[in-house]
Amino acid sequence: MQIFIDTANTEEIKKYYEMGFVDGVTTNPSLIAKENNKPFKKIIQEIVSIVNGPISVEATADKASEIVKQGIEYQKIHKNIVIKVVMNEEGLKAIKELNKKDIKTNCTLIFSANQALLAAKAGATYVSVFVGRLDDAGNEGIQVIKDTTQVFKNFGIKSKVISASIRNPIHVIESAKAGADVATIPFDVLDKMIKHPLTDKGIQKFLDDWKKVKK
Ligand code: G3P
Repeated sequence: MQIFIDTANTEEIKKYYEMGFVDGVTTNPSLIAKENNKPFKKIIQEIVSIVNGPISVEATADKASEIVKQGIEYQKIHKNIVIKVVMNEEGLKAIKELNKKDIKTNCTLIFSANQALLAAKAGATYVSVFVGRLDDAGNEGIQVIKDTTQVFKNFGIKSKVISASIRNPIHVIESAKAGADVATIPFDVLDKMIKHPLTDKGIQKFLDDWKKVKK
């Protein structure tokens, strides 16, 4: 499973990209808005200069033709940019047009396997299933990942399934077990995945014992 980091914060991206496990980045308007009024294009330019992998940038227009225009504009910033497009009627039309132009898309705000299937049929490169928000609403997010990966497998659908809106390390491992192609993970969850109290305790014990060794 590929690991993307779900943030627009370049310090967070740098920290984990250096550790070798980050394959790409996903952003959205809410994550960009957290970056203290830093200009949008500057943020994206910085991210593409750090990470050599897919970087999702969300189109914010309503109409398909405008989404396509934004997509073309954002893609000019760097070849690795993937256009995030919302799952609705205009979004599906835009995905089809962007696909014709060989511009990669990430269909976002997906809450059912049916939505994922339609986005894939329209030509989405990635479909982002919002696991945490489904759980918050009393549904089982991971079940939608399982259903989507099963449907895509049954029909040899090439679109990649992103497990998004990840809230904890259990979401990550359950997404991997369910066959998600990608999990896009926030900084704090990656931190929790790295650390384990028994690892810290073990390191301390080795260091203490090493001090007792005659060198
Ligand atoms: O980037 C899309 C998704 O991961 C957002 O997650 O935490 O706002 O539900 P969240």
